[in-house]
Amino acid sequence: DSVLVHSPATLSNLGCGFDVFGLALAAPYDAVRIRRTAEPGVRIQHLDPYGLPTEPTRNVAGVALLALLREVPEEIGFDVEITKGIMPGSGVGSSAASAAGAVVGANALLGNRFSKMQLVDFAMAGEVVASGARHADNIAPAIFGGFTIVRAVEPALDILALPAPPLWVAVVHPQIEVKTSDSRKVLPANVPLGLAVRQWANVAGLVAGFLTADYELIGRSMDDYIVEPARLPLIPGLAEARKRALAAGAIGGGISGSGPSIFMLNQTEATAQAVGEALGSVFAELGIAFHIYVGPV
Ligand code: HSE
Repeated sequence: DSVLVHSPATLSNLGCGFDVFGLALAAPYDAVRIRRTAEPGVRIQHLDPYGLPTEPTRNVAGVALLALLREVPEEIGFDVEITKGIMPGSGVGSSAASAAGAVVGANALLGNRFSKMQLVDFAMAGEVVASGARHADNIAPAIFGGFTIVRAVEPALDILALPAPPLWVAVVHPQIEVKTSDSRKVLPANVPLGLAVRQWANVAGLVAGFLTADYELIGRSMDDYIVEPARLPLIPGLAEARKRALAAGAIGGGISGSGPSIFMLNQTEATAQAVGEALGSVFAELGIAFHIYVGPV
């Protein structure tokens, strides 16, 4: 008895909503096949070329499943086969997708006894292994789908899941390494009140834009005045990529999660294709290898 879960890539932050906003993409996704076993414990196999650790305590899906098993009174275990469709380290929620897929699959094998909120909690244990931070902004959209708001992590998880308006996303993944742990070290410890006001005004505008499918409002509310300026030196080409994407018709965008990918939201597939080309042209000129992904949310 096994189940197969397709667990999607996700955009986190979405500009102004650092550690709070998330958006699920239709693709790419990780394929997680999971089987319940009488043998306790977790066994992980990776059917992909990325050389990720397979010891359960060092694998994001393994850690998430061990967290789930602690809440299961029966003596059971899981065999897991993961085929990553999402490149590790790309900044579109690769680790979150594997961890989320594993716990969603395990829950199905257990008669769906856990709530989505509990599954996010288990999967977050995997994020700590991957990035050193207990953040849920990629896990939440992977599990709930659509547009998610992590309103609180402590003292208890509080996640709001809202439908997203139709959107096409263009993502460029330059082949440079930016570790989430490093890109969190550069962040300011304190924020001047004036900047904070501009930021939460944008956060409010973006939520209103999503709820009313007001693309113009979404576009003018995306800018991040706090986190992106600190990370700018880590992502070469970001300013030029944004300029060309907006000229090609993008609604707006920014760093995808902690980078190095850059995402742009678009209203139509045709615009997203043109924006993808515009993003790629920047990295071609910089001599940095890159992948482009274009798809719907
Ligand atoms: N919100 C997190 C960050 C996402 O920007 O550091 C990391 O994937």
